[in-house]
Amino acid sequence: MKIITSVEDQKKLSKELINDNRNISLIPTMGNLHLGHESLLKSSTEDDYRVSSLFINPLQFDDIKDYNNYPKTIEKDIEILKSYKIDCLFLPYKEGIISNVSNNERLSLPKFTDTLCGKYRKNHFQGVFIIVKKLFEIVQPSKAYFGKKDYQQILLIKHLVNEYFGGNIEIIQCETIRENNGLAMSSRNSHLTQDQRDLAAIVYKKICFLKEAFLDNKDLFDQNKKIVLKNLLDLGIKIEYLEILSRNTLTKPRQNDKEVNIFVAFYVGNTRLIDNIEI
Ligand code: PAJ
Repeated sequence: MKIITSVEDQKKLSKELINDNRNISLIPTMGNLHLGHESLLKSSTEDDYRVSSLFINPLQFDDIKDYNNYPKTIEKDIEILKSYKIDCLFLPYKEGIISNVSNNERLSLPKFTDTLCGKYRKNHFQGVFIIVKKLFEIVQPSKAYFGKKDYQQILLIKHLVNEYFGGNIEIIQCETIRENNGLAMSSRNSHLTQDQRDLAAIVYKKICFLKEAFLDNKDLFDQNKKIVLKNLLDLGIKIEYLEILSRNTLTKPRQNDKEVNIFVAFYVGNTRLIDNIEI
């Protein structure tokens, strides 16, 4: 596996590959790879030339402590990428990739980024948008892999591809991978004790309950949601949002809307986690 740390070297490699009519796939990550990331690596196995990027993007953190505490396991990550026969790891230096990005640069993002995580993490999607746009410009993939765990992020990436890349990057959406107790895998889970993980898994069980109840009787959703919020609060779990929305627009579902998801963000101790399920 090649390891490239310079933006110029990565651009040069991509240019050569494209001149040779190779198709590049990109799997962007912030490292601390777990089975969720591995499912993206696995899904890309049949692809021609696979680049995975690893960059902890400061622009998408609104809390410097969260950024500084982000788990770093680079040696282990390299071994995992090698085991999936990734062709190239793009591991850019911070200065190389975000030097000419001004902190004041405000891009106008689509309306759906004002809700859910966008509502509570003010600069988060600006940061994701800027960095993924840069990665796409440097690596020039024809395909890119993202996880449905970060559902709002996928919608934003699809918007980015349509606005800036003429719709010419295929976005592959991978299913959410969970621990045995149902908790969605996340790098942030490493901040939790086993008891806290079991507690966090209750949120997944509760949104599954809300899904079943919704399928039985849509009109009782708000009532059931209130009960669930109270149960979770009693367990010491602080819910930031719990919403049922159209999965295409992130707006309130219309009657008979078949494409809806339940989205949740919550805190266990000081750790913020997100999840969503399709209905
Ligand atoms: P990161 O949190 O490292 O996630 C990298 C990719 O793995 C994302 O597409 C994410 O949705 C996916 N992923 C994480 N946990 C998953 C799970 N349990 N099941 C399935 N997929 C999962 O998301 C980011 O990094 C960053 O925002 C990034 C896109 C790299 C831009 O900085």
